[in-house]
Amino acid sequence: MLHRKHQGHVVVRSVASHFSLAPSPCRPGRGRGPRASGTLTGNNCQNRRARAFSHSSFAYPTTRRPTPPVRHHKVAVAGGRGPQDYRTSHVTWFLQLPLHVRPVQPGPPVRRGWRQLRPAIPLLFVFLPPPTSRRSERCTSGRAKREGKEVRRRGRGEEPGKMQYKNLGRSGLRVSQLSYGAWVTFGNQLDVKEAKALLQACRDAGVNFFDNAEVYANGRAEEIMGQAIRDLGWRRSDVVISTKLFWGGQGPNDKGLSRKHIVEGLKGSLKRLDMDYVDVVYCHRPDASTPIEETVRAMNWVIDQGWAFYWGTSEWSAQQITEAWAVANRLDLVGPIVEQPEYNLFSRHKVESEFLPLYSTYGIGLTTWSPLASGVLTGKYGKGNIPADSRFALDNYKNLANRSLVDETLRKVNGLKPIAAELGVSLAQLSIAWCASNPNVSSVITGATKESQIVENMKALEVIPLLTPEVIDRIEAVVQSRPKRTESYR
Ligand SMILES: NC(=O)c1ccc[n+]([C@@H]2O[C@H](COP(=O)([O-])OP(=O)(O)OC[C@H]3O[C@@H](n4cnc5c(N)ncnc54)[C@H](OP(=O)(O)O)[C@@H]3O)[C@@H](O)[C@H]2O)c1
Repeated sequence: MLHRKHQGHVVVRSVASHFSLAPSPCRPGRGRGPRASGTLTGNNCQNRRARAFSHSSFAYPTTRRPTPPVRHHKVAVAGGRGPQDYRTSHVTWFLQLPLHVRPVQPGPPVRRGWRQLRPAIPLLFVFLPPPTSRRSERCTSGRAKREGKEVRRRGRGEEPGKMQYKNLGRSGLRVSQLSYGAWVTFGNQLDVKEAKALLQACRDAGVNFFDNAEVYANGRAEEIMGQAIRDLGWRRSDVVISTKLFWGGQGPNDKGLSRKHIVEGLKGSLKRLDMDYVDVVYCHRPDASTPIEETVRAMNWVIDQGWAFYWGTSEWSAQQITEAWAVANRLDLVGPIVEQPEYNLFSRHKVESEFLPLYSTYGIGLTTWSPLASGVLTGKYGKGNIPADSRFALDNYKNLANRSLVDETLRKVNGLKPIAAELGVSLAQLSIAWCASNPNVSSVITGATKESQIVENMKALEVIPLLTPEVIDRIEAVVQSRPKRTESYR
């Protein structure tokens, strides 16, 4: 162990790591080993930066992790009498003990008291549990890294099976890991009475995020959700409500992302929902016929009016999102904080490949849709076997049924069934858990027409810890949908 005086500090090498003492966020990802990063004084920019990083999954995206930059740990001893310097942790004091450090230039007399108990502090470490500081993340490390496998780790405070609340991208908005959306169901299959029961079942499971769109059942879905929430007497601030704008009607200005439609569309949605604001408003699709600058300005305008708190995109390309951020940065406006793409065992390219740079560069969060591929990944459909009470039995969704229920898809679904059975879970739970275990996914938007489906689907949270690298590999062997790695010539 080396130490030397340096600008009023004693620099200690390789001690903290031995005790795993460095404050957690300073040790991003795999910060174990002889170079635990961050200084221990607690009063320096390293720790401040680490705190700023520590609030969501994007902090340490799987692709780019901040490299631990600091190799030395400074222990404040001399000149360390100021209030900042006494923001040292017990760790610092503990480190002084074996070093027999004395102040270089003793300052005013130190107040005695409980500090005399300092020699007993090492005993704390005998009783303290090892730090469980790692954020929830799917990371590659150790053997798994060598084998190129992904391992999901649990973060501080995460209880398996309990609903987690994740920051929506780099924003401060926290959304439940599983959420619920109104597409197809509200207005086409269910009305207010049933909707109330379903929404309450979601709330009982800890869901706080509910998704909608102006186009769902031509606006009826928003009316149903609004009325149901009113009838249930929920506090508005307890839930996160989103809607999406693009298809608002048949007129030439009722569609798209012009300033006119964004302002009029959102006004219409708020009226149908009977709410003063939505938490998130999405551009439901990109609009090639409207300049992105117009859309970015209009989204900022509706936010400034207090009609929405954040804005996002849905099914935009990485390039379009990048362009929106470039415009927002140039105009000193806010960019989209979230993208809503399709993500399930059959549809993965955008989330796992194309969007990778967006997570770290812009802190984009994801609320993903159709985790069950419209119910196909429950295993209830077969060739010519469409349950009468299911989505694919609806007249309007015959086309979707024809596109979805093809031999190859059904073969894969049948291949997944034994994996779910061996784990003792349903295929729906396995499929939803698989989506939710991706750390870049802020919330998986589920759909359901029956309370029993919600009860079943929410139990997917208990399945996440079962997704070991071996299970993930077995799933991959069946679906073979992992996007190819980006070509590299290095
Ligand atoms: N941004 C976009 O462009 C976009 C597009 C689509 C969806 N979304 C959002 O994502 C949400 C979810 O999408 P989704 O409804 O397609 O999700 P999904 O999970 O793929 O499908 C949900 C449907 O599958 C069936 N199902 C669900 N759980 C089941 C279970 N345990 N057993 C048997 N059947 C079950 C139900 O339909 P049946 O009972 O009728 O068969 C349910 O409505 C939508 O509500 C919407 O908010 C967004």
